[in-house]
Amino acid sequence: MARILITSALPYINGIKHLGNLAGSMLPADVYARFQRAQGHEVLYICATDEHGTPAELAAAAAGQNVSDYCDEQHQLQHDIGRAYGLSWDWFGRSSSPQNHRLTQHFAEILEDRGLIEERTDHMVYSVDDKRFLPDRYVEGTCPHCNFTPARGDQCDNCGRLLDPTDLIAPYSAISGSRNIEVRETRHLYLLQTKLEAQIRAFIDSKDDWPALPRSIAYKHLDEGLIDRGITRDLAWGVPVTRHGLPRPGFEDKVFYVWFDAPIEYIAATQEWADNLEDGKLRDWRVWWRTDAGADQVRYVQFMGKDNVAFHTVSFPATIIGSGEPWKLVDTLKAFNWLNWYGGKFSTSQGRGVFMDQALELLPPDYWRWYLTANTPESSDTAFTWEQFQSATNRDLADVLGNFVNRILKFCETRFESQVPAGGEPGELERKLYDDVSQKLADLTGQMEAIEVRKSAQVLRELWVLGNQYLQEAAPWTAIKTDPARAAVIVRTGLNLVALFSRLCGPILPFTAGKIADAVGEAYPGAWPSSDGEAELSRLEPGRAVSVPEVLFRKVEDVQVAEWATRFGGGGEA
Ligand code: MF3
Ligand code: ZN
Repeated sequence: MARILITSALPYINGIKHLGNLAGSMLPADVYARFQRAQGHEVLYICATDEHGTPAELAAAAAGQNVSDYCDEQHQLQHDIGRAYGLSWDWFGRSSSPQNHRLTQHFAEILEDRGLIEERTDHMVYSVDDKRFLPDRYVEGTCPHCNFTPARGDQCDNCGRLLDPTDLIAPYSAISGSRNIEVRETRHLYLLQTKLEAQIRAFIDSKDDWPALPRSIAYKHLDEGLIDRGITRDLAWGVPVTRHGLPRPGFEDKVFYVWFDAPIEYIAATQEWADNLEDGKLRDWRVWWRTDAGADQVRYVQFMGKDNVAFHTVSFPATIIGSGEPWKLVDTLKAFNWLNWYGGKFSTSQGRGVFMDQALELLPPDYWRWYLTANTPESSDTAFTWEQFQSATNRDLADVLGNFVNRILKFCETRFESQVPAGGEPGELERKLYDDVSQKLADLTGQMEAIEVRKSAQVLRELWVLGNQYLQEAAPWTAIKTDPARAAVIVRTGLNLVALFSRLCGPILPFTAGKIADAVGEAYPGAWPSSDGEAELSRLEPGRAVSVPEVLFRKVEDVQVAEWATRFGGGGEA
């Protein structure tokens, strides 16, 4: 048994996430966590809301709420909606927690003690009318590269270039619209990443088993040369800047930059989990994070979208390595491309795409979990379309899995009084099935182990197809007329396939797996099976009671697709 620590990138607090966010970090992390738990490993899956920075402040202002109330509310919403999708977080924390405040301040202080933080004078955009600095997204204007307006202070949405607020042409305040803007001097803390370059490069070099996507992004930054990074901002909401535990002189109106404190929340959320004594269990967060407390035995796997990779391969390691303390570093980094909405991007501001709460109004979670894993943007960007969603639902879930389970259980009900039948000996068809299933089981376990999400879904489907083919060939409805013992073998084998599917479906389709397990009297969640087809298909004892489950999946009709395409603005256009 191994200990496996899993984190998925922390969703920003500014509203319920769309399906692209779910597909590109939280869902694959959940599938992996469920798989490893089923293998008998000790798993800790941690996530949290990312509550600081200008996105939080601007969203709160737009909602007419103070930031703290806004975050309380949105955290609860994101927590509830994630649970409704079956996301099996061991803890869903908050980057605004006291634990994260303390730990973020600790890291900054120790980094400074080690000569890796320096105070510098910066030139920042200041709004005279608002009487405040305008960091990042608080200032908008025209992009100096492509002339797009409004480009935001941290990035141009049109050409995608990263910007510095002082780069903008004709800047104005995103708060008041005022153009009464000056550039003023202000003091900030800088993390001296230039001094850590060799150590960070050595860290990435040691990860030669990582996929190409995260490695190439990390090397791009290293090869361009790391820059010292401002880790404080002129904002009121966030982690206050301290020195020796007291407010740092000159920094009373400043906080740490959101990208400095957010990844630290992975650790702090684990502390929140340990500190939560509601269920009376004593837990030690150190065994997961401190290599001097056993975390060197932990396998740490991170899930994220590609836009987050630089922060996880360079910035966060700089914090960890620079501290000189025995903190756990990531072992495996799984990064995803974009799930697009038709030809374009999902967009919160333009209301393009489907959001997590809306999707659940249409259909239960497993429909979405299946489509999103089977179409995970792994080797390239992929596009959500209603047509593909319809075909994945109808062709995979309804016609293949649902049909198989229903057919065999119905037959068992009418012909064998809903009991696993006794008698007969497996024949040639069964031996072939054992071989085919053995092969696919080994394949599926390997793909799951390698976090090949799409391929895992594909092989799982191939196993369902094997079940259908077997039933079609073995034809128990014919055998029953002439050879009841033969029919008994076929039905028993079919029911064993159903039981096997319930265990195999657990990671991707947890709700369905539970229903299927109930139907054949199996425990849920079940243990992950071995790759021995014969053994796995000879488990159910004759005489066990089984039952026909409610319809597992309903087909998506053309009229629904048309209605949803209209309602959500999908269809056709790029
Ligand atoms: N909130 C960020 C985003 O959605 C991700 C933060 S990941 C963390 O892009 F590690 F910094 F927490
Ligand atoms: Zn631009």
